[in-house]
Amino acid sequence: MPTNRVGVIGFPVEHSLSPLMHNAAFKALNMRDWRYDAMSIPPDILRLGLREPRDHGYIGINVTVPHKEAIMEYVRPDEKARAIGAVNTVDFRSNLGTNTDADGFINDLRAHDLPIAGERVLVLGAGGAARAAVYGLSRAGAEVAIVNRTMSRANALVDHLRASAGIDGISIISLDEAAGWGMSLIVNCTSVGLHPNVHQSPWYDGVPFPVGITVYDMVYRPANTALMRQCVAHDGFAIGGLGMLARQGAIAFELWTGVEPPIDLMQSVLQDALEKTKED
Ligand code: ATR
Repeated sequence: MPTNRVGVIGFPVEHSLSPLMHNAAFKALNMRDWRYDAMSIPPDILRLGLREPRDHGYIGINVTVPHKEAIMEYVRPDEKARAIGAVNTVDFRSNLGTNTDADGFINDLRAHDLPIAGERVLVLGAGGAARAAVYGLSRAGAEVAIVNRTMSRANALVDHLRASAGIDGISIISLDEAAGWGMSLIVNCTSVGLHPNVHQSPWYDGVPFPVGITVYDMVYRPANTALMRQCVAHDGFAIGGLGMLARQGAIAFELWTGVEPPIDLMQSVLQDALEKTKED
């Protein structure tokens, strides 16, 4: 019987790939006294649902949709969680709530040897994923501009990062302006191109696609998005979001266990699972 338990709360949570990824890591490291569970908790009992694992000796949990924002009230959110506006990882020993998305993303850029400090980076989108990207990129010293369909949401993102983390200097531009802005990296944080809308791209026709740049698409299903194909067709280098998914989980793993996680294994477990469920 495992004595060290961690897990994920969400609603629904059955589709989460986190149990697979973390339990594979425990197995590979021969950590037999660790186990990662999925716990389905309806939003109306979040407070109670949170107390259950805490009282039953869980060391920590991941938090997924729809609890990531609401849970902030019940934990001590750190600066990352406050800036991103969501908690995805809790350590019950300290009641710390953090968000590992920004570091997971930046770690994956670094794993691909991409320069960040001093680079111009264009972020597409202004939702939660974009907040994590803009926060991480700004802290890593990039010059960031945002393109978003809804201007008011882009403004809200900029205001929120200034108020919560003192981040200044983020520009909001149009896609036409972005075409000539001279970025070395485009990060897609919109849901455009996500399965099943696999032929859609946030870089729409009629706007010239920059030549020889890098695209990081946070979408990981499909593995090769329309935006990534546009990038490669223009002599660029394209990266899908699977590495970020593995690395945001790896940060939580290390926080709870104090053990360095087998990131390559975690990523290949995710890849295999996604390939098995491929419908496109
Ligand atoms: P998440 O938390 O995963 O970032 P979200 O908050 O729903 O999800 O944000 C989705 C992002 O995708 C937003 O930037 C959204 O643009 P709007 O702010 O204009 O809604 C963007 N998005 C979704 N569908 C889009 C579409 N068809 N065209 C352009 N942008 C789209």
